[in-house]
Amino acid sequence: MGYSATVVKQVESSVGQLLHDIDSLAALPLEQASAMPPGSYTSPELLALERERIFRRQWLCVGLAASIPATGDYLCDEIAGQPVVVMRQAGGTVSAFANVCRHRMMTLLTGQGNCRRIVCPYHAWTYATDGRLIGAPHMDRSTAFARGEVSLASVRCEVWHGWIYLTLDPDLPPVAESLARLEPLVEPYGVEHYVPIDRKEHVWRTNWKQLTENFMEGYHLPVTHRATVGAWFPVHETRFEPGEPDPAFTYQFFTKSADARVGVAHPDNHRLEGEARRTAILPTVFPSHMYALAPDHVWYLSLEPVSVGEVRVRYGAAMAPEVLAASADPETLKAEIRDFLDRVNDEDRVVVEGIFRGASSPLASAGRLSWLERENHEFTRYLANQLRRA
Ligand code: FES
Ligand SMILES: [Fe+2]
Repeated sequence: MGYSATVVKQVESSVGQLLHDIDSLAALPLEQASAMPPGSYTSPELLALERERIFRRQWLCVGLAASIPATGDYLCDEIAGQPVVVMRQAGGTVSAFANVCRHRMMTLLTGQGNCRRIVCPYHAWTYATDGRLIGAPHMDRSTAFARGEVSLASVRCEVWHGWIYLTLDPDLPPVAESLARLEPLVEPYGVEHYVPIDRKEHVWRTNWKQLTENFMEGYHLPVTHRATVGAWFPVHETRFEPGEPDPAFTYQFFTKSADARVGVAHPDNHRLEGEARRTAILPTVFPSHMYALAPDHVWYLSLEPVSVGEVRVRYGAAMAPEVLAASADPETLKAEIRDFLDRVNDEDRVVVEGIFRGASSPLASAGRLSWLERENHEFTRYLANQLRRA
């Protein structure tokens, strides 16, 4: 056997062993389960498989539709390696296109903004906001060129309860179908009416799955977040919903103590009643969209792996409209909430970068899970299912 064939075989068997380990773990009841093995977070071969079998085949969230409220508002992003632009159309719908020119493939727009047409910065081919090519200078001698036949490649895009989801998979069922069981849980909050106050991107030095797992479990809240939100979450009171977990998402409810300053309903909130007024829901929509939806604010993360040890984090926050309407100084209030949530994120960054360094070390091994890490085990099961799909 030649050298390269040997290497390929080793690569295949390394992922094969990992898949086998993840499968075995997924088959265990939570009481006997462990965290995933360290190699799950450090294997470039496994990441290649995750890109192919998960990120190219799932709905991926790029943020809140309220971030692009007016006709021509757009935001640029990248999903599964594909640059995309999401654009508010004249009729109020939201469309998405490949952010790639149909001439010599220049990327077109950057960041977030508003435009009446999209002009390529390379040779000025010009597109309408619905993606049709409407101008192409000096193409009159190109006999095979037909302007009317050219438009930006469209990308599947759906808005579901305020969130913009995109996918590169033409056959994936609609978001509303896969999240049907989540709908009644989030609907009462009315997140589609929340007002965006922050949106930014970070690259953190961790594996994307470690950040997903960190978000899902409440076990770390009183420890990692003791200086911010930790004291408001009595984690020993965590209740998990009975019944079969859903294959597309998981979630937890957290009811805050009555003295919490953030995360409870404003007196002008007439949508929520009783204990729900101080209860937040934290859904994780697999693989990589997670949010903390509280009666007065929401913040979210949506992830895109860059490499095994780097993840691009889309982060955003929004506030319930009645909170801002009742404030004498909404701009200061927004700044306070932004700063507060930045501190919570900084606390998470320390631990998720720490567990990646730990998982990369020679003596790393995975320990048993707590009953408070039930979602992590559901995530292991999700991964086992997706990674086995041909
Ligand atoms: S690449 Fe866009 S106009 Fe040439
Ligand atoms: Fe956290």
